Amino acid sequence: MTNAKTTVRISLGERSYDVVIGPGLAARSGDLIATRFPSARCAVVTDSNLTARHLPALVAGLTHRHAGTIVLKPGEASKSFSELGALCERLLALGLERGDLVIAFGGGVIGDLAGLAASIVRRGVRLVQIPSTLLAQVDASIGGKTAINTAQGKNLVGTFHQPSLVITDTELLATLPPREMRAGYAEVVKYGLLGNAAFFAWLEANFDGLLGHDSAALAHAIATGVRAKAAIVARDELENNDRMRLNLGHTFGHALEAWAGFSARLLHGEAVAIGMAQAFRFSVELGHTSKATADRVAAHLSQVGLPTRIADIPGNERPDVANLMRLMRQDKKVSSGKFTLILARGIGDTFVTRDVAADRLADFLAREII
Ligand SMILES: NC(=O)c1ccc[n+]([C@@H]2O[C@H](COP(=O)([O-])OP(=O)(O)OC[C@H]3O[C@@H](n4cnc5c(N)ncnc54)[C@H](O)[C@@H]3O)[C@@H](O)[C@H]2O)c1
Ligand SMILES: [Zn+2]
Repeated sequence: MTNAKTTVRISLGERSYDVVIGPGLAARSGDLIATRFPSARCAVVTDSNLTARHLPALVAGLTHRHAGTIVLKPGEASKSFSELGALCERLLALGLERGDLVIAFGGGVIGDLAGLAASIVRRGVRLVQIPSTLLAQVDASIGGKTAINTAQGKNLVGTFHQPSLVITDTELLATLPPREMRAGYAEVVKYGLLGNAAFFAWLEANFDGLLGHDSAALAHAIATGVRAKAAIVARDELENNDRMRLNLGHTFGHALEAWAGFSARLLHGEAVAIGMAQAFRFSVELGHTSKATADRVAAHLSQVGLPTRIADIPGNERPDVANLMRLMRQDKKVSSGKFTLILARGIGDTFVTRDVAADRLADFLAREII
């Protein structure tokens, strides 16, 4: 394996950082960290699906910088107040000081939880993300959002805490279950759809290599996604306006995820795939884009094995319109009965609209449920 790596700089003034992308980088983390933070000790936070295959090489590479490893249970349930409290205490017990680092080594769950802990322990210590799912590599590890869930909903408690470095090792994905890989791929497609038609066309031609773990294809796709997210985040770090475009497919998708109980029945990326197909179909209905465009989007998602319609969700029960409308209302602010959605004029050409009338949306959803 070559040592080829790509570095993407996230430009956020004094909070700027590098995302280093390539195969085999987790084992080289010690060196990548030492050149930037020579005297920092590192506390690793990970989950038990990473310990057998991937953790030993990371820890070996950290050498004397390794302060300890905290292994959590895999799964969304770890993003809770109780796990956050326990994690903060354990980080303090490892003797973590202000100049030290928390390393979030895992998928988006570990990134969100360890990121939140890093932002509050000792009023904030530095965070290094080493994302191990495609979703986390292309999306969750950059941008600085951290979160836990509460009884009221997902990601309702959190902070903005930018990492100081992101180390994206494409080889970690070799052990990722194919379904998780496809779910992460939906977020890769999102970047093409929301602002880069040439990248979408590249994905149509190269998805096989990417999902087959070709490291050059993966590195190219991840770097393109990270650059797109970085450009948007740099313009709108706190999500006041343009950053909302990153939510393409997410208002529809979150409603379906919530309806499915955030369960293994429908993974986040799968819900986003359906949501993106819906955003394009709704855009056709409202006269913003052509049916051929929406068909092309759905065809690519289907081709890789992602769902594009509510009927593709396994199981017999179907949501009703009132239920979906209620869930969509919760997801994004509604003002005077109008919904905010991300719609499309074409592939790579999306926009935020704040005046979608509830009855138009209800009509559309009624047809989607059939
Ligand atoms: N902060 C953000 O900007 C942001 C963005 C998107 C999503 N998220 C959050 O990310 C979470 C979803 O992240 P995810 O999809 O990475 O899920 P995840 O962290 O739950 O990981 C999915 C599964 O894969 C396992 N796994 C991780 N890496 C592996 C590997 N290399 N080999 C084998 N198994 C591996 C995990 O243990 C888990 O069982 C959600 O909680 C979501 O809210 C955050
Ligand atoms: Zn997402």
